[in-house]
Amino acid sequence: MSFYKAISNQILKNFNSKKLKLHEPVFSKIEKKNLENCIDNGFVSTSSNGFFIKKLENQIKRFTKSRYAICTINGVSGIHASLLALDFKKDEEILVPSLTFVATVHPILYLGAIPHFVEVEEENFGICPNKLETYLKLNSYKKGQNLYNKTTNRKIKGIIAVHVFGNPCDIIKIRRIAKKYNLKLVEDSTEALGSFYKKRHLGTFGDTGVFSFNGNKIITSGGGGVVITNNKKIYKKISSLVSNSKVPHNWEYIHNQVGYNYRMPNLNAALASAQFNKLKKILKIKKNIFKNYKKIFAQYTEVALLTPTKNSSSNNWLNTLIIKDNKIKKDNFIKYLYKKKIFVRPIWKPLHTLKHLKKFPKMNLRITNKIYEIAISLPSGPGIIK
Ligand SMILES: Cc1ncc(COP(=O)(O)O)c(C=O)c1O
Repeated sequence: MSFYKAISNQILKNFNSKKLKLHEPVFSKIEKKNLENCIDNGFVSTSSNGFFIKKLENQIKRFTKSRYAICTINGVSGIHASLLALDFKKDEEILVPSLTFVATVHPILYLGAIPHFVEVEEENFGICPNKLETYLKLNSYKKGQNLYNKTTNRKIKGIIAVHVFGNPCDIIKIRRIAKKYNLKLVEDSTEALGSFYKKRHLGTFGDTGVFSFNGNKIITSGGGGVVITNNKKIYKKISSLVSNSKVPHNWEYIHNQVGYNYRMPNLNAALASAQFNKLKKILKIKKNIFKNYKKIFAQYTEVALLTPTKNSSSNNWLNTLIIKDNKIKKDNFIKYLYKKKIFVRPIWKPLHTLKHLKKFPKMNLRITNKIYEIAISLPSGPGIIK
């Protein structure tokens, strides 16, 4: 039997063969009840009467043990608001991995700032702190409190670290570098609700952490996101920015700077709040899905499953298959699995290869390019379990 056939048979046997999409949400009566509540009360939109917005923010604060939470219309607006609140400016450089969804980087461009692509580690797909530190030593200089790029003479202002597919990157080492070089740190934790590093929830290490509640995430609000922070000043800035910079007042319309309509509507919060009650149960199911895959792939030397590193606890959002045998060609493998209705996906095309992002500075990205050639995301939604 061919390797492709053996693998697909195993997946079809061990999971619900009719549901092998990448990541579909699962709903029950409680979501409907919450949505009906909004409709009956008329509070569907973004207003201070949005009961579910506050409720969801409290659920997130409690679960992540962060001091502040601000719900937004999606993850990308949360990243944008974070960068604005942290005072990132036009022409400043932000260190960011190339191996991420494009929404990590687009907010940098909204500001007219510059993404500076950095290398990742094969073990967890996150920024490699050792390579980053060596790179900065060679390619940057300090002037006063600030760090500058030796080649461009632009200020390097911060880092966006990404926890890819829910796998914690080496966030403590990355934070140490940020502190040493006086860089702001945003955690793109959009895929990592329910993931921990050294028992501490991801998103709480940076100046801000951002989560997504898109339909494909571990829990969903349809579309939505949330920013968490422990810093009151940043919280106040983001709260204002995402609410059209409206100065709180019972009836007057006073706006004190440019702002954005980025606040999550109550209707979306109602959905996510109901989902939140099931988060622990969903995380357990996801752990079982990971274990099933682990058992299947342990039988083959041609492939391996990406496994959380020491001190990491992943939400197992998207399980990732790594091709070890260079006779296996990723595209052929994906094509075969699609024919069997096993809807796997490649990882994102590295961002430094995209037309509109090619021109930006980057370090040697050999591992990033390699991962793109060998990683396949597997169907992982809670509905695939038998
Ligand atoms: C790594 C990463 N960053 C940012 C985002 C943006 O989140 P959203 O789709 O909620 O805007 C996503 C999710 O889609 C993501 O996977």
